[in-house]
Amino acid sequence: MNPIDRRLFLAGTAALSATPLIARTRVEVPTPAAVNPLVKQRADAQVFRHEDGHYYLTGSVPEYDRLVLRRSKTLAGLATAEEAVLWRHEKTGPLSGFIWAPELHQIDGRWTMYFAAGPSGGGEDVFRIRTYAIVCDGPDPMTGRWKLLGQFQAPWDSFNLDSTSFVHKGRRYFAWAQREPGIETNSNLYIAPLASPLKLAARATRLTIPTLDWETGGYKVAEAPAVLHRNGRLFMTYSASATDARYCLGLLTAPEDADIMDPDAWVKSQQPVFTSCPETRVYGPGHNSFTVDEKGRDILVYHGRDYEAIKGDPLFNPDRHTRVQRLYYKADGTPDFGVPVGNGPLPERFASAVDPRALLAHDGTRLIAGNPSLPATQFRQTAGRAGPQSIMLSPILLPDHYLLAGKDGSVTLARNDRSADFAMRSQFVRFSDDRSNTVRFVSIAVTGKALAAVGKEIRLAGSRDATARWIAD
Ligand code: AHR
Repeated sequence: MNPIDRRLFLAGTAALSATPLIARTRVEVPTPAAVNPLVKQRADAQVFRHEDGHYYLTGSVPEYDRLVLRRSKTLAGLATAEEAVLWRHEKTGPLSGFIWAPELHQIDGRWTMYFAAGPSGGGEDVFRIRTYAIVCDGPDPMTGRWKLLGQFQAPWDSFNLDSTSFVHKGRRYFAWAQREPGIETNSNLYIAPLASPLKLAARATRLTIPTLDWETGGYKVAEAPAVLHRNGRLFMTYSASATDARYCLGLLTAPEDADIMDPDAWVKSQQPVFTSCPETRVYGPGHNSFTVDEKGRDILVYHGRDYEAIKGDPLFNPDRHTRVQRLYYKADGTPDFGVPVGNGPLPERFASAVDPRALLAHDGTRLIAGNPSLPATQFRQTAGRAGPQSIMLSPILLPDHYLLAGKDGSVTLARNDRSADFAMRSQFVRFSDDRSNTVRFVSIAVTGKALAAVGKEIRLAGSRDATARWIAD
């Protein structure tokens, strides 16, 4: 062990012994809920938590030649879960080329996987993409035998893809992307109730045409609808523009009691709700789905690359990785998508137990107790160097900066300059207090002191002081 690490380890041990373990207080060893990217090279990911308690993940593979499925007891476990191949594209014919964007649903008790497929053979014909479904012959989608059910009977014989299905007020609906004859776009969004898995029960309603600048970057695209029912509303996200760094999420919102077949019931956000973020190094975030974590908290699932420049056609770049992050809500109940949080353990937010409106936040490189924006309140906890319990805290928007404790009681943000001083002052131990459901970050460098929100300031305070207690979310 090098001298710095030895000194750190001893300091970490001293901090642990110097901090009284209040009843039902325990050191919380950093074990992230999940680490991004969750699954490499799985684009268009659908993740859902089934009533059987398992998480299922499917998505497009870079080869676009097969339908795959993963299952795990935990969200994080999807990263290493075994992947079953349910079906492979055919040797010839209309399903022998690209296989895109599968979604798994249980419809009338039968596992059904929708997907888009096209013929092989090269030229423009490979984009003769249509929607199909396969069905499983048994209760276990991972081990059952799958066979082609047939082709979706779309309103027109034209490019259609990215279907999803959801139940609203007891009725099952289908939403998908399609090119409509007479409209010069790649795809628009449509919705209709289903009479059976591949047959609509009513004339389709067109929900949106890509017309805004952020929808028409490279290609005029509205695709990949995903529906979330929360706070008295239906939120339908969709993906727009070319699949490079311009790819982003748009949002349609309808009251839960509206006639969702009425296009006027849906209000379109004029701005994108989720876009590339150079600060966190995630580009082209999109083709999302929604799930919940093990605590039932909403999770946004999407794909994104961790570099911007792409050589060649982005459609054939394999690095659209599956990513997940918490989905929070604004005071008015609408989702706050924030920014893609970047590679590494999922970040958290820490609200002062004294005044929950004051969160650990930053304004540039200045730490504040406030709530300037969701991204400015998201901090990533990573393993420290002062023993197995030590951690470091870093804001997602400044991933190369860390919180440093000062002997003068200050707490600042600074880059790692590889100094012994930085190594010591950036180390904290996270204590959890089950009784108050709060956490404390005790400094290893400044004995008996912990991270605190004092008014609008972030400082050190006595490790047992109320201002040093945080509600992690
Ligand atoms: O990833 C393949 C296709 O590209 C998806 O179906 C679509 O959402 C994206 O544009």
